[in-house]
Amino acid sequence: MNNKEVVLSGIRATGNLHLGNYYGALSKFVKMQNDYDCLFFIADLHALTTAPDPNALHENVRNILAEYLAAGIDPDKATIFVQSDVPEISEMYLLLNMHVGIGELMRTASFKDKARKQLGLTDDGTDIEKQIIGTDSNKRVNAGLLTYPTLMAVDILIQKAHKVPVGKDQEQHLELTRRFARRFNSFYGVDLFPEPENFNFGDHAVKVPGLDGSGKMGKSEGNCIYLIDEEKVLRKKVMRAVTDEGPKEPNQPVSQPVENLFTLMELTSAPEIVQSYRDAYADCSIRYGDLKKQLAEDILKVTTPIRERYHDIRNDDAFIARVVRQGAERARERAAKTLAEVREIMGIRKFY
Ligand code: ADP
Ligand code: TRP
Repeated sequence: MNNKEVVLSGIRATGNLHLGNYYGALSKFVKMQNDYDCLFFIADLHALTTAPDPNALHENVRNILAEYLAAGIDPDKATIFVQSDVPEISEMYLLLNMHVGIGELMRTASFKDKARKQLGLTDDGTDIEKQIIGTDSNKRVNAGLLTYPTLMAVDILIQKAHKVPVGKDQEQHLELTRRFARRFNSFYGVDLFPEPENFNFGDHAVKVPGLDGSGKMGKSEGNCIYLIDEEKVLRKKVMRAVTDEGPKEPNQPVSQPVENLFTLMELTSAPEIVQSYRDAYADCSIRYGDLKKQLAEDILKVTTPIRERYHDIRNDDAFIARVVRQGAERARERAAKTLAEVREIMGIRKFY
């Protein structure tokens, strides 16, 4: 265990997991657990930045735990824990915030996006910083949203992680984490934190597209295939995916909605199958209905075993409690060590 590189990643407790979460994050977790010293957690404190209903939050933590386990994360190989079970994270979040600039936080893309949503604005090019300063206390952007990247950096740095498997949309947060690590090390003249990097099995971060012909699959976009979608629901969603009128001449460029289906196929189907549909597109013999049927079939091969295990695990309170208790103990022990070092380095020392 000791000389293996440390891997850490988490997913916010905001609902059930979809194929974007699976290919961007979870499937990588499952593969990595054999070769690395892995910690995977559920980010319930991060979920608070978007004000969830308290009961829903708790149920969502349970959902994701069950999905982690159903997808094949083995609690005896990897440490599985809930973020709020490790209070050392919250303390270090306060300490690290002293080295983080509000300007750099306000410039992150996800902050601007979510701040606009909290204010009920659309991106019309107006300066978001000015709009925020002008808000009154009834219509506000919460400070937790601004410091989201600090909390994420602490999740990673407190475990001294080297690799952080996440999807493409999280790369800016990882870049900030590296910057904070470098800054802390150089400010105090120490070599405490490694600079973590993203991890992919291919050569670049995955972006799973949605079924609506536009951008990425995402919970708030309403274009998701969930790992626990029932067979009928899943088939229906795939059959309804946006396409176009079909190629009119050989080797025509592929439109975005159809390219999205090919991208999903590349993730779930065998390479020869993808190639046969690419060829059919090129010679205009493609039938999108057939492609969708094949795609639904291949997605179901991935999701069905996960869905089946999910329901059993989700209802097994004793098992879930055992997993998170064991995970919390392991994660806390490591976090407490780093926190003690950080306190000492920053001069927070005891008199008794
Ligand atoms: P969502 O965008 O649906 O709210 P999260 O932000 O909770 O999902 O993402 C959890 C993890 O899943 C992150 O590592 C993120 O990068 C990854 N992820 C989410 N959506 C996608 C996607 N469409 N493609 C690739 N990875 C994704
Ligand atoms: N911000 C990540 C997301 O939205 C979740 C997250 C929180 C995370 N802390 C992390 C991911 C630490 C990796 C490592 O998906």
